[in-house]
Amino acid sequence: MEYRGYDSAGVAVLDGAGALTVERKAGRLANLEQQLDATGRERFAGTAGMGHTRWATHGAPVDRNSHPHRDTSGRVAVVHNGIIENFAVLRAELEADGVELTSDTDTETTAHLIARAYADGPTAGDLPASVRTVCRRLEGAFTLVVTHADEPDLIVAARRSSPLVVGVGEGETFVASDVAAFIEHTREAVELGQDQLVAITRDGYEVTDFAGEPAQAKPFTVAWDLSAAEKGGHDYFMLKEIEEQPEALANTLRGHFDGGRIVLDEQRLTDQDLRDVDKVFVVACGTAYHSGLIAKYAIEHWTRLPVEVELASEFRYRDPVLDRDTLVVAISQSGETADTLEAVRHARGQKARVLAICNTNGAQIPRESDAVLYTHAGPEVGVAATKTFTSQVAANYLVGLALAQARGTKYPDEVAREFAELEAMPAAVHKVLSTVEDVRALGRRIADSKAVLFLGRHVGFPVALEGALKLKELAYMHAEGFAAGELKHGPIALIEEGLPVVVVMPSPKGRATLHAKLVSNISEIQARGARTIVIAEEGDDTVRPFADELIEVPAVPTLLQPLVSSVPLQVLAAEIARARGYDVDKPRNLAKSVTVE
Ligand code: AGP
Repeated sequence: MEYRGYDSAGVAVLDGAGALTVERKAGRLANLEQQLDATGRERFAGTAGMGHTRWATHGAPVDRNSHPHRDTSGRVAVVHNGIIENFAVLRAELEADGVELTSDTDTETTAHLIARAYADGPTAGDLPASVRTVCRRLEGAFTLVVTHADEPDLIVAARRSSPLVVGVGEGETFVASDVAAFIEHTREAVELGQDQLVAITRDGYEVTDFAGEPAQAKPFTVAWDLSAAEKGGHDYFMLKEIEEQPEALANTLRGHFDGGRIVLDEQRLTDQDLRDVDKVFVVACGTAYHSGLIAKYAIEHWTRLPVEVELASEFRYRDPVLDRDTLVVAISQSGETADTLEAVRHARGQKARVLAICNTNGAQIPRESDAVLYTHAGPEVGVAATKTFTSQVAANYLVGLALAQARGTKYPDEVAREFAELEAMPAAVHKVLSTVEDVRALGRRIADSKAVLFLGRHVGFPVALEGALKLKELAYMHAEGFAAGELKHGPIALIEEGLPVVVVMPSPKGRATLHAKLVSNISEIQARGARTIVIAEEGDDTVRPFADELIEVPAVPTLLQPLVSSVPLQVLAAEIARARGYDVDKPRNLAKSVTVE
């Protein structure tokens, strides 16, 4: 689970004879492993235990803030994901009672509160009931896993808005934030709902709600196996995931054109609902937001509906105009990004319909949406999104076509033609991948640059933004994406001798005016000393004289160009990061799933 956080790691094991052994260490998992080797792994003999990798929210990433946290007696251990928003009140209450807290975290308060509930009062001696009582007092989003040394055969886990799945093996049961943690042992999983608690014993598991009533949890079989979550001979997951893009795209498209119609995965909306839509909002964060910016061009072009694309973290705080004829498309690889989830809840609260595009089966965002389209990209472990980005772009196009089909703005044969063009994209991306060795060499040559700028127009503009984001997060370089037309309104002042500027060219065959305008932009920056790196369609000779470095991609329809032009940018960022000596799977300060606002 290290991709979810690598600020610190820790383990706690119950030995069955009343002892709880804990080890915690700041930094990556490897630090904890070294510590365990040094102090003796044999101390951790037992049949029940927990582990945690942390992305710090409250308290610096140091040993004492690492999970598991314990109560004063050391008999209760807790690991936690999320944020307990009322922790200051809880902490003050504990301190007023003379409890000495040993960390700066919000998590530690829960260990003390659970220990107290278990020691005394109506829930005394009942760990699930004690955890439920405490959960009812907590505000915010959390997943908790709890053990008590007095209950060596019991693990209790609970969730509110943060993910939690149970893995059901033979003679063994798991809980985790993500199925990747136990896929090596079982593909049978159970997904817990909102405000549910699971008590795992030697004999199995029992799910209840926070009031203690029996609750239904949804069993499912994970569609992929361990090999999908391994590096498969690559140095980094990210490099494997870049290469998997043709397959991810093909899987995302598969089965979505059936009987001459675009079909979504889960649709609790009727065609009439789709016909009634008079406005579309796309909400997402980071890379998913960039895929949403691309969606705008296609959806508006195909449906003539107005589309607004908004950062999920901004959306609900500005009182957007929403009603039941608004369609909100929420894009999220993980399906658990807190900002996007809250945007979905806000939209539904205003009666808008929500369609989720997600890569994680059964995650919270699809669960709370009216319709779902899954990107079947398989697990993405590298923190930087790659194959899920291109899969999201493809899924966005399917949503655009589904809307156009329902609203009659495209004839069935036109929809079929667009889908056929999408189906040709895995081969086009494959072709790009076969030519990226030159991009790698280029990456190594420019790895010492202070900054890199990215320019694009039309759908090339979000590609430029995404190229810059990849470089920032992986290579820690100053990188910015601009709409090329904006250059003269300020950013051109940044151009200096030798500054690498990546330009995403549109096809010379498509919107010819755009192409000509971008050629002018390149010549303007080249005249001012920029080192131009141009991504252009094969055979685009007009741009050659202006390209200090030329990266050719296959000719594809204008709207689909992001699917080919974003791939060299992923490769470029990864190679620059590697040349600078960074771990491309785990960039500093980041985590794969951002489950806090
Ligand atoms: C991009 O490389 C990042 N991993 C990040 O921007 C990511 O796309 C964003 O946090 C949204 O995540 P989601 O798709 O899981 O909602």
